[in-house]
Amino acid sequence: MMIPERIVLVGPMGAGKSTIGRLLAKELGFRFLDSDKVIEERCGASIPWIFDVEGEAGFRRRETAILQELSQETQVVIATGGGAVTREENRACLKRGAFVIYLRTSLEQQYDRTRRDRNRPLLQKPNPRAILEALFAERDPLYQELADFVMYTDRKSPRLVARQLLNQI
Ligand code: S3P
Repeated sequence: MMIPERIVLVGPMGAGKSTIGRLLAKELGFRFLDSDKVIEERCGASIPWIFDVEGEAGFRRRETAILQELSQETQVVIATGGGAVTREENRACLKRGAFVIYLRTSLEQQYDRTRRDRNRPLLQKPNPRAILEALFAERDPLYQELADFVMYTDRKSPRLVARQLLNQI
């Protein structure tokens, strides 16, 4: 089978998109692009700062602009932010010409992998577990709909997930 020219990883915070994406890119000889990192570089500020100063709406505007841009690239693996799928225009541009992988992860793992992290403004509230649960309920159908392939990442090392994915693309 021909390797797609663009691979897009979607899924919730704590799914392992960045770690797995980097490994996958290395194996394929593709570049790795992390949309959150590109947003931070362009803005010269961190994600929490953008949320603080511009609100979530400001962050989403920046995210849409960057996703449009990254979706023109070829020979890349793109890790998206967990909320990238919430806008229909983002879903359309991410899907075009790409092989989309949903890294599906239980709430327990999402929580475990994000609870010490201060870089996710949506979770800096009293009950992050409930927030993850509400976001998952809203977004899981969107991830599923967009994906060409769903990979479960629970209790698997990033290396194992990357290896299993290489057999699917
Ligand atoms: C968000 C997920 C984050 C980042 C921002 C908002 C979300 O990315 O884009 O904090 O809405 O789920 P990760 O999924 O890489 O943590």
